[in-house]
Amino acid sequence: MRFLRIVLCCVLLSGLVSAQAANPTAWANDPQVESKIDALLKQMTLDEKVGQLITYSQGAPTGPGTGRSDYKEMVAQGKLGSLFNLTGANQTNEMQKIAVEKSRLHIPLLFGLDVIHGFRTEFPVPLGMSATWDPAIVEQAAHVAAKEASHAGVRWTYSPMVDIARDARWGRIVEGAGEDPYLGSAMAAAYVRGYQGKQLGGPESIASCSKHFVGYGAAEAGRDYNTAEIPVRLLRQVYLPPFQATVDAGSATFMSAFESLNEVPASANAMTLTQVLRKEWGFKGFVVSDWNSIGELIPQGVAANHAVAAAKAFLAGVDMDMESNAYGPHLADLVKSGVVPEAAVDESVRRVLRVKFALGLFDHPYADGKGSDAIAAEDADLARKVAEESFVLLKNDGGLLPLNASGKTIALIGPLADDAGQMLGSWGAKGEAKDVVTLRAALTKQVEAAQGHVNYAKGTDILTMSDKGFSDAVGSARKSDIVVLALGEDAQWMTGEAGSRANLGLPGNQQQLLEAVVATGKPVVLLVFSGRPLVLNWAAQHVPAIMEVWFPGVQAGPAVTNLLLGTSSPSGRLTVSFPRSVGQEPLYYNHFNTGRPTGDTDLTRPPRTNAEKFMSRYVDEQNSPLYPFGFGLTYSTMTYSPTAVSATSLSAKDLNAGTAKLTVSAEVKNTGSRAVDEVVQLYIRQTGTSIVRPVRELKGFRRVGLAPGASQKVEFTLGRDELKFWNLDMKDVVEPAQLTVWVAPDSIGGQPAQVAIGQ
Ligand code: BGC
Repeated sequence: MRFLRIVLCCVLLSGLVSAQAANPTAWANDPQVESKIDALLKQMTLDEKVGQLITYSQGAPTGPGTGRSDYKEMVAQGKLGSLFNLTGANQTNEMQKIAVEKSRLHIPLLFGLDVIHGFRTEFPVPLGMSATWDPAIVEQAAHVAAKEASHAGVRWTYSPMVDIARDARWGRIVEGAGEDPYLGSAMAAAYVRGYQGKQLGGPESIASCSKHFVGYGAAEAGRDYNTAEIPVRLLRQVYLPPFQATVDAGSATFMSAFESLNEVPASANAMTLTQVLRKEWGFKGFVVSDWNSIGELIPQGVAANHAVAAAKAFLAGVDMDMESNAYGPHLADLVKSGVVPEAAVDESVRRVLRVKFALGLFDHPYADGKGSDAIAAEDADLARKVAEESFVLLKNDGGLLPLNASGKTIALIGPLADDAGQMLGSWGAKGEAKDVVTLRAALTKQVEAAQGHVNYAKGTDILTMSDKGFSDAVGSARKSDIVVLALGEDAQWMTGEAGSRANLGLPGNQQQLLEAVVATGKPVVLLVFSGRPLVLNWAAQHVPAIMEVWFPGVQAGPAVTNLLLGTSSPSGRLTVSFPRSVGQEPLYYNHFNTGRPTGDTDLTRPPRTNAEKFMSRYVDEQNSPLYPFGFGLTYSTMTYSPTAVSATSLSAKDLNAGTAKLTVSAEVKNTGSRAVDEVVQLYIRQTGTSIVRPVRELKGFRRVGLAPGASQKVEFTLGRDELKFWNLDMKDVVEPAQLTVWVAPDSIGGQPAQVAIGQ
């Protein structure tokens, strides 16, 4: 009988869990939780309510501090509901104990941290993760991060960053999924699923935070924190969709951005924070400001002081103040003076408490510190696998890669070959350099196992102009059969927040080192470690093999080595366009056509005719990227059949009603001699529409594993969601149009098929 009861109970429980999994926003609609919140709100003083609406940092890693550190007293008095940058079970539990045992209403604290691409087990930087085109593996990585963070007391991550970024100068392009809203939305949802798990209350689930709402990635000239001007249709079409995807996936919190968006600071922008996020999308979690972004309304020029800034941000829809010290000292007075209705404060407190209840913090406020001594072997394996999937092979002349190391001498040269700290990338959370296996360590081990030898020479530092190490490097190259060069950016200083660059070449004197090594005449493989597209024109002309490896995380060395030696085959694809010149930026594949479009032109001479001259072109650079969005080679060769469609005409009416769909397919064949994963992509273009539409838009993708000689029919479905857009009347509908579709290996390839979309 007891056994039966347990079985029944398990069945019921699993039913509950899967019901919640099927409904990722279930946590936001639990009547029992709402009545608990009602009861709490009745007991709370105004000061205690304000306390739930502020968060402070232990230390000041990313901005000016507030000068406050009286957190223990504030927590004991119920005047502080959340802290961030405090980690570790002992540290968080000590603070939590004060909240739970000493504060009048025993409301638990919520601890936050920027867990961006791993907690201790660092995965590749997010731009690299996006280059996997594999949302399922990104979800797994986010789950590992959530597991490690939650055991250390951190139940809230400031991730995912879902800002679309079309300008490689912007340092924070490294934190997102690149330039495309469709891929960006898929990645955004994957992170949320990974962090929040089947249910937010699971012991290893953490709340995600979709940031930076919104338009931060459109910073003018790629300079961080800079103004963004985004016409409303572009906002709807490109910048908002990844955020909406996170709401649909159940993201518990949002972060408002720093920049002025269309002259209204994003942290005081009622149109985005209230109209779109709350009213249109029905978001039930809470919005936290970015670091001091409420205080920054003062230099931005819309608030004379912190009290006005607090009122503007709060009334626009920012529930919680991060580090501005504006709500703490001023929100209660704003209520007393009638500027802010207390009912609005109650609503914001409700949203914060809703997330705390959903996380189960009231029942399980403490962390258990489990697994904090070391990275688990299976997590390291996953980190390696993700890194391998993220690398993008840009060039491989004469099949130089994979290398046959057997009995060979390989010169390993460059400042990124043996720098463990750099591998952790920007926002390394609690990653430790000692967990990193560098390329030097891994390559030496594997090459020696194959009776080969590695000659290592650093050559230069990332940023120096001293060429002291050049002769050693050149000497190593000369006495080796092959050279592997590990060059790139400084992850901390040149990528991530406040890491914008006006120049996109290899920093310091690495270009000179590259040229000196290539001049030896040895076959060279260039590995580019970077958080953004770099300008690689010289290398593209003179180096036979180039692979973009981003900042790969703790398993950098084994992952790169596996690809170099062919244990695995490259399968990553670019999610950002690589420019030929900085002057092309912003550069993105899904641009509109001009009235005077042109392909690549002869730049060695002036145009000969007016038809050549008066085109949309530069006189000194091609329009096209050096490497386009979606591009990446494998160790095999592929053929794509012509694109096939299930119908050559459809009706917009049926598509809008959801009763019509179009199937698009192609036969993809591995014609080479190695098994590979091919990332098959679906693009569309619509013409004859009420507004101009991009020359291509990604609307589907799939990673398919293909053995040598194998082929597969890869099929996609297009319906209302994929074909609608915000038209001239600002209606989000499918319009009659001429539709072109491509099943393609990247954003410029594939064979087009035509479909007429009639009334
Ligand atoms: C960044 C955010 C980050 C926050 C907290 C800010 O400077 O813009 O992305 O989450 O700091 O560390």
